[in-house]
Amino acid sequence: MAAGNPDSGGAAPPGLAPSLPASWYCDPAVFARERERIFARHWTLIAREEQLAAPGDFVTDTIAGCPVFVVRQADGALGAYHNLCRHRASPLLTEETGRRQVLRCPYHGWTYGLDGQLRKAPGFPGREAQGPSNCDLLPVRAAAWNGLVFACLDPAAPDLEDWLGEILEIAAGYPPLETLAFLGEQRFEGAADWKAYSDNSAEGYHLPHVHKDLAAALVREATEIRNYERGQFVGFSVRYKASPGWPESRGFWIYKFPGLLLHFSENEFNLERVIPLAPGRLALRRWFWCPPGEQEKFQVVMEESTAVMREDLAICEAVQRNLEAGVYRSGLVSEEQEPGTAYFQRLVREALEGPA
Ligand code: FES
Ligand SMILES: [Fe+2]
Repeated sequence: MAAGNPDSGGAAPPGLAPSLPASWYCDPAVFARERERIFARHWTLIAREEQLAAPGDFVTDTIAGCPVFVVRQADGALGAYHNLCRHRASPLLTEETGRRQVLRCPYHGWTYGLDGQLRKAPGFPGREAQGPSNCDLLPVRAAAWNGLVFACLDPAAPDLEDWLGEILEIAAGYPPLETLAFLGEQRFEGAADWKAYSDNSAEGYHLPHVHKDLAAALVREATEIRNYERGQFVGFSVRYKASPGWPESRGFWIYKFPGLLLHFSENEFNLERVIPLAPGRLALRRWFWCPPGEQEKFQVVMEESTAVMREDLAICEAVQRNLEAGVYRSGLVSEEQEPGTAYFQRLVREALEGPA
């Protein structure tokens, strides 16, 4: 083993950092700590605001292993709650989306208002009409930005706009979502840890090797990649070459800690949510928008993006197999070639090893 390799116990050479230990990508105890210290403390993208247009419209989801839902309240505000009846813990809402004016538990029929207040607890002595007073739904934070609805379990987390940081200014240079039409959603699952996928999403070092078509479509000298501390993300400023039927255009890709990818361009937008399912397993949800009336033309953009995602997922799954095989303990990350990955891994270390 080479001297200086962190595997051998030596210090990493200047400009290089030891990568996260391979065991962190497979260990259920690390996964549990990530849920508690990372995913429960950050905002999670839950819905498109148009899915919650009318009072009673809801979307259910899971954040850090906790079932939650977001609902449009009677006064037009967004409400979000743990999807959890206060009686004996049944989920209240079992569909992914729908509309209800009253939230009735399917187990024993306790009912709650859209504001989360318990209205009826049938057969509970003296509480038939109103229910026990401390049994309202447990609230979760919800907020919207640019037509997207986010939720957060942590009352102490920064507000959504602070969490997004400089993404707000970058997004202002691209069409707002309300001017675009929703093109579609895709869902995938993969045998890679969310960190293997994020390590990869945070750097452009792999681009010429893993994404030959994408690399050929970009003006190489125009690509700029840097870390943004305000908002904890890695930004890739890119320029697409002109191609038949498509003028040259600029774009901005973002890997936002811990699990959100945003791809802005002059005439379309897509994003991807990285969902940790288990150690070494992830799900991806991907949403696409394009100019109204141009859905057919933009199918090809969605297909090309999907091909890139498949290339990423395939290399991450192959990496994951080696991380699990037990030979590789830790490698090296270059601050110069892959500063985004170095930044991502620093954030993971700080979250998992720092004060609670
Ligand atoms: S668990 Fe909801 S009414 Fe019993
Ligand atoms: Fe990639």
